[in-house]
Amino acid sequence: MEGTPALGSPATRREAALKVTGGARYAADHTPPGCLYAWPVAATVAVGRVVRVDTAAAAALPGVTAVLTAADAPRLGPTEDAELRLLQDDRVPHHGWYVALAVADTPERARAAADAVSVTYDTGGAAPDVRLHEGHPGGYEPEQVNGGYPARREQGDALAAYQDAPVRLDLRYAVPPLHNHPMEPHAATAVWDADGERLTVYDSSQGAGLVRTVLASLFGLAEERVTVHSEHVGGGFGCKGTPRPHVVLAVMAARHTGRPVKLALPRAHLPAVVGHRAPTLHRVRLGARPDGTLTALAHEVTTHTSRIREFVEQAAVPARVMYAAPGLLTAHRVVPLDVPTPSWMRAPGETPGMYALESAMDELADAVGVDPVELRVRNEPSAEPDSGRPYSSRGLVACLREGARRFGWPGTRGPRTRDGLLTGAGVAASTYPVYLAPCQAVAHALPDGTYRVEVAATDIGTGARTVLAMVAADALGVPADRVTSVVGHSDLPPASVAGGSSGTGSWGWAVHEACRALALKLARREGKVPEDGLCASADTTAAVKQRSPYARHAFGAQFAEVSVDQVSGEVRVLRMLGVFAAGRILNPLTARSQFVGGMVMGLGMALTEHSPLDPAHGDFTARDLASYHVPVHADVPDIEAHWVDEHDKHLDPMGSKGIGEIGTVGAAAAIGNAFARATGRRIRELPLTPDRVL
Ligand code: MOS
Repeated sequence: MEGTPALGSPATRREAALKVTGGARYAADHTPPGCLYAWPVAATVAVGRVVRVDTAAAAALPGVTAVLTAADAPRLGPTEDAELRLLQDDRVPHHGWYVALAVADTPERARAAADAVSVTYDTGGAAPDVRLHEGHPGGYEPEQVNGGYPARREQGDALAAYQDAPVRLDLRYAVPPLHNHPMEPHAATAVWDADGERLTVYDSSQGAGLVRTVLASLFGLAEERVTVHSEHVGGGFGCKGTPRPHVVLAVMAARHTGRPVKLALPRAHLPAVVGHRAPTLHRVRLGARPDGTLTALAHEVTTHTSRIREFVEQAAVPARVMYAAPGLLTAHRVVPLDVPTPSWMRAPGETPGMYALESAMDELADAVGVDPVELRVRNEPSAEPDSGRPYSSRGLVACLREGARRFGWPGTRGPRTRDGLLTGAGVAASTYPVYLAPCQAVAHALPDGTYRVEVAATDIGTGARTVLAMVAADALGVPADRVTSVVGHSDLPPASVAGGSSGTGSWGWAVHEACRALALKLARREGKVPEDGLCASADTTAAVKQRSPYARHAFGAQFAEVSVDQVSGEVRVLRMLGVFAAGRILNPLTARSQFVGGMVMGLGMALTEHSPLDPAHGDFTARDLASYHVPVHADVPDIEAHWVDEHDKHLDPMGSKGIGEIGTVGAAAAIGNAFARATGRRIRELPLTPDRVL
């Protein structure tokens, strides 16, 4: 923490040295005395029932303590998340569903025992239905989509306006299922105290507080009898945003055996049990005047969910925010299939939605012969199209202009031929909403002149504990190296999950308020700190729940240049440049990492990441990093992330907007648009793999 600079200046992560020296302990690094290891048994069919689980051979193996099945596993209390109702009945809702759990004295013996479990299924001869298509008879329009948004919204008569438009485009795009694959796979260690009244869990989670609440309900405990630690977390990207099966199974096994139990998921299990980005099919209809001004925008999305839970990716929602169009229609349909329940993945909704919308805007620019930057400027709304609310700030045009200047647009747009490769550049817009959640925090002044702030925030690798100390120091008016921030377990003042790009704003707001209150107390005592210290707390619930009269969103502009090899079909990204307008940037060093990391994720989405479902067996076909290709260093070119300063008074007291997700939004569209520029050909289905390119 030495030398942490002031808010707004670049600061390295406070746990950086711990992380690079192996001192930072993750969920699987906790091994209490007497710890056992669990290994789950995953269903090999996608529909049907478990008829018989033969555990005799497994139980006879050396070191095996127990093999849990639906017959003898602890009964669970209520949960809204059907993916957590584990080993409670014989139903198999999807491939990879856990049907048994082996527990042994080493991880290797637990795995061997899991392999020795023999499961008989009855599928009733039914083949799994895992194929998503627009006209699927099982599809329906839900009431709401994720985020609580209505599934359908319409301003004006969008389809009539479309029919009357001089320029009409009717386009279809497809985004495949995608996996989060954080560097640290999910793991948990569970410890019951001797009388079974208290539970301590080390979990890899984006929100220890939510894990505590859910475990308390599942195991019939008062919340204060459960403590969840998530001190260091190796990434999440949404798939650790809610409790996942591994933590429930670890707690069950610990209760069943009366011993601490550790469960670390193998990466190949992740796709089936930690959620995925649902595939989305997009129909985008744009009606425009010959100068490119929109008269109609209709974005209709079809997506899938599982048989046990409705989860609807809100991919048409960003179209409600982006452009002025007198006729604006956005709608979603969802099809329950024999698939694992999808979940959050970095900028859910915005990422697939803006791929489609920003590809379509590029096609419109081509159709009317207007520069794509200029086309977007022409369609800039004066208020949020869906709600009519004024924007608290809207930096899209500033980002487009600044990005164009830095990127050399349109001069470097191409197309060109270089070393036998076709090259071209593309642009796309980004957007992400400002989400804020209620939070509490406590600030302490200590007699030695230092300060400590406490909040149950989670640092998933973003630099949360660093920026919270900076926020605290700023509110206290003291140097940041006199402030310690304590985050990462559920006994701290309650905080929301590290999700929705809401962490810094939500937690920072509470920290800021607690520190302001502490500063006032200190001022009243002329700065004198009593021997037992002085503290102040804050709860932002009332302030956060007041609905803002403003539409609050971050915006950005993404530019990309690609080369296309017409012989091998290989597409390579040569350059990416993003400019973002996200309020005040509180720590430029870690903010840049967030933006660049998001852009790299967009690069993977554009070129290599996909995990089709196997129609014969109903499982994901790309389950590990050998088959699911995320970008490696050699794929990632020079990436620049910049931002334009925004002074927006209608946000949290620091004036920040979230930055964790917007870097992904629009990145794949910019690359797809660059591909179209380079080759003169559109591919409307991701990723741009050689089989599609050739
Ligand atoms: Mo993020 S997908 O909100 O964790």
